[in-house]
Amino acid sequence: MKAPRPRTTLASLCLGLAVLAVQGPARAQSEPYKVFDTRPVFTEGPFLSALSDTSVSVVWMTDAPSHAKVVLRDGDTVREFEPQVDGLVPVGQRHVVTLEGLTPGKRYSYEAVATRVVRLKPYWPDKGLSSSSAPAVFTTFSPQQKRVSFSVVTDTHEDTARITRLMKMVDWAGSDALLHLGDAFHWIDSEEQLWAKWLRPTVAALGPGKPLLFARGNHELRGAYARQLAGYVPTPEGSYYYARSMGPVHLLVLDTGEDKADDTNVYARLNRTVPYREAELAWLRAHAASSTHLASAPFRVVAMHQGDWGWLPDNGVAWTALANQARVDLVIAGHDHAFSYHPPDQTHAYHRLILGQDQLARIDATARELTVRILSDQGALVHALIIPARD
Ligand SMILES: [Fe+2]
Repeated sequence: MKAPRPRTTLASLCLGLAVLAVQGPARAQSEPYKVFDTRPVFTEGPFLSALSDTSVSVVWMTDAPSHAKVVLRDGDTVREFEPQVDGLVPVGQRHVVTLEGLTPGKRYSYEAVATRVVRLKPYWPDKGLSSSSAPAVFTTFSPQQKRVSFSVVTDTHEDTARITRLMKMVDWAGSDALLHLGDAFHWIDSEEQLWAKWLRPTVAALGPGKPLLFARGNHELRGAYARQLAGYVPTPEGSYYYARSMGPVHLLVLDTGEDKADDTNVYARLNRTVPYREAELAWLRAHAASSTHLASAPFRVVAMHQGDWGWLPDNGVAWTALANQARVDLVIAGHDHAFSYHPPDQTHAYHRLILGQDQLARIDATARELTVRILSDQGALVHALIIPARD
């Protein structure tokens, strides 16, 4: 049977809508669509995730659906970064804007801007007004910077008092970044938990200008919301594992996955970390073979959650061999909830340092030496390690 002929053509419908909109009563400002007198409120952030020498992801939340952009200033040069996904500008309450093509070692100022979308109709969506964050400054890492300092915590496990206590101990003026080595959670159930139990107290200390670098822990693979985590701690690369060129340190942030085999019954066949870790290892191998900064930097540091590489079918033999071959100097990890230090031995050509749950590590590196100082949450020195640069 033939479909009935439409009474109006698409063209006449468009024209009709256009006339309606132009004649609509709530049109504000000079926009040709309806703009209501309502602005989004910034409820979380903005903060900087996974800063590199040329990129960073800016993350924040608004109380109502909005679209987002970041205005970046560098002296008199102004650039706007507005994301799109498959050709559409994202509209939501969580905003991620990745800034790319930045200059290494440069100081930038940025503002996060959110514009309210009141009703997302097919044509003539109703909009609202914009809100901006206060201008904040950050400096990109650089392979050429003379020194680098960063602070490290791990296994905060939803204890916000612990987070606040440790964050108060950080020398923010002297830290280029905060590194969290994973297990911020027991498991992840919701967006509110992500903010309340980790990101909110962390970002309160970081502010909008110091970057958070995150190595995923085994507990972050668990729970109904675990699959959404990457949207809250995004990386410009879109991956939980990545490398950073920070002057004297070439930092490798790795994802050590789960602590049990994929076919362990508790996972009910929902884990497939074996191919994931194989892809990660292939990336690390290719990176170690091609990165000029890895080859030339005075120090190579691996930051990851499980100090023994996590559960792997070969117990991590291939990873240890690659780390030795890549001349890794230091592995810093967590997971054990207690401090331990293991000097290089017959198997490992690198120092291994396991940070405890209520401890803060500060890593400082120059071209000549890398220093790690680990403090208890009472400020007592737990351990100091000085690694001289190789000849
Ligand atoms: Fe863990």
